Amino acid sequence: VPLPRVLSGIQPTAGSFHLGNYLGALRQWVSLQDTTEAFYCVVDLHAITVPQDPAELRRNSLVSAAQLLALGVDPTRSALFVQSHVPEHLQLSWVLECMTGFGEASRMTQFKDKSQREGASGASVGLFTYPVLQAADILLYQADMVPVGEDQRQHLELTRDLATRFNSRYGATLTVPSAHIPPGAAKVLDLQQPDKKMSKSLPPAGCVNLLDDPAVTAKKIRSAVTDTGREVVADPVNKPGVTNLLTIHSTLSGQSVAELEERFAGRGYGDLKKELAEVVTDFVTPVRDRTQELLDDPAELTRVLADGAQRAREVASRTVATVYDRVGF
Ligand code: ADP
Ligand code: NA
Repeated sequence: VPLPRVLSGIQPTAGSFHLGNYLGALRQWVSLQDTTEAFYCVVDLHAITVPQDPAELRRNSLVSAAQLLALGVDPTRSALFVQSHVPEHLQLSWVLECMTGFGEASRMTQFKDKSQREGASGASVGLFTYPVLQAADILLYQADMVPVGEDQRQHLELTRDLATRFNSRYGATLTVPSAHIPPGAAKVLDLQQPDKKMSKSLPPAGCVNLLDDPAVTAKKIRSAVTDTGREVVADPVNKPGVTNLLTIHSTLSGQSVAELEERFAGRGYGDLKKELAEVVTDFVTPVRDRTQELLDDPAELTRVLADGAQRAREVASRTVATVYDRVGF
């Protein structure tokens, strides 16, 4: 019995991933390798839907790939590649664009949010068709499942609709993927604004980057906004800041929140932050070192990515060949 296939992608735009990316998504990339055949890509084509500096984009794609390897993506088991190295993404995406209704694409709420940020005339057509490229990313590999957070649900629905539409128009061709809500995925809040999720788009003080200097990381955690009161207990409504720290600790250390509450009974927030700073730096320091090691050998990193792209293309080119044949090319 073949393993179920999974596809996931992440944008390279920030260079460093943050703790939210890891605890909410990338940790599951690593564990899914045990039970699935995984295709993981650094989605640089998606990145240029908003303006990018070329040298920075190229660098960030490598830094992103190196971090994924450092975190435990295993290129002997999974295909790890950069999206632009596999031109089939664009070949399929055009066919899907021609099957997507203009009104249907207009209903994507992420475009509405992002285009507002780019200003009235600033949003590109690429930003508009982004969800269709995302559908191509997934359908090219005949993925059975896609790990998704709440923010990607609408895009996955579009992907499923497009696969179903293609199949009913041209005959069974594309696998209709289902959403996989990864068990143990944590939502990490910003350390300075614990009413928002940790994000690269918020000021850096609230965001723990995996590649930050460990001293900076420790300082960010010690300066985290906590709540009124002194007791270390999880209470998402009244103590979102402390609860967030407990969540991060628990997910990284494997100790349950209840155990942590018990251990910190009678002690203050300062003690929790001090210990959490150690837990986080113990986690990120080897990831940061390993990432640097990989970046110090660009020839080997390039070889790993070329190998990943080749494995991806073996599957992707078969899908495109069938799709093009069915469409009449
Ligand atoms: P950002 O919000 O920093 O721009 P992305 O939108 O690029 O991050 O997210 C990449 C992946 O990381 C997605 O799967 C997303 O669901 C996950 N992710 C991002 N931020 C968080 C967070 N604070 N908590 C949990 N998961 C997150
Ligand atoms: Na985001």
